[in-house]
Amino acid sequence: MRFTVAIDGPAAAGKGTIARAVAARFGLAHLDTGLLYRAVGARVLEGLDPVEAARALAPADLDRPDLRASEVAQSASRVAAIPEVRAALVAFQRAFAARDGGAVLDGRDIGTVICPGAEVKLYVTASAEIRAHRRWLEEGGDEARVLAEVRERDARDSGRADAPLRAAEDAVVIDTTALSIDEAVAVALAHVSDRLQGRPRG
Ligand code: CDP
Ligand code: CDP
Repeated sequence: MRFTVAIDGPAAAGKGTIARAVAARFGLAHLDTGLLYRAVGARVLEGLDPVEAARALAPADLDRPDLRASEVAQSASRVAAIPEVRAALVAFQRAFAARDGGAVLDGRDIGTVICPGAEVKLYVTASAEIRAHRRWLEEGGDEARVLAEVRERDARDSGRADAPLRAAEDAVVIDTTALSIDEAVAVALAHVSDRLQGRPRG
């Protein structure tokens, strides 16, 4: 079976939570594509050239324990604006999406650029304040600073020329601002289930 679920949206909207739940429920492989950019961003903080780091990326690089750090997230969003970096990561993502048994990919440009033919496209979003609050609950620190960093990353990801963050025209938008995790996951599972059974989305 070839079945691809594309999940995009801004930082801490709940993409990963939904992607993991969809993958577990339907037995699909899951790729958090943000990890690719975070791994390149981490190498750049160590002094490597971003394009060379992207071209040399190996699966083991995605297991680095420091990839969740906020400075790595900011570095990821800076390297993600470089077209040669994005180009170096396309083939791996498309091969993952095409695997037998189906796949879920979450990121910023999955429904628009990486998998424009995906069977299901979800755009998961929420207010910047609630997203920053969720990140702050995970990471601690100064909540106002977390919000500023979320806003800075949103602006950079949405404003870049190459593969900017936006909902695909045929994406189902899930606003998780007022939803619990269970509610957001239930909405997503229902859409995927409908598509698997050949019913139209809506
Ligand atoms: O992958 P993304 O950065 O979009 O977000 P996530 O890692 O799935 O979710 C960010 C945080 O928000 C996690 O701690 C989730 O448990 C939490 N969350 C939530 O509180 N309510 C939701 N409806 C979705 C996620
Ligand atoms: O978990 P969170 O949503 O905070 O971030 P992430 O998904 O790990 O992505 C980190 C950064 O990588 C984003 O801010 C984007 O700049 C970049 N990214 C991208 O450009 N395209 C993707 N498909 C995934 C991530």
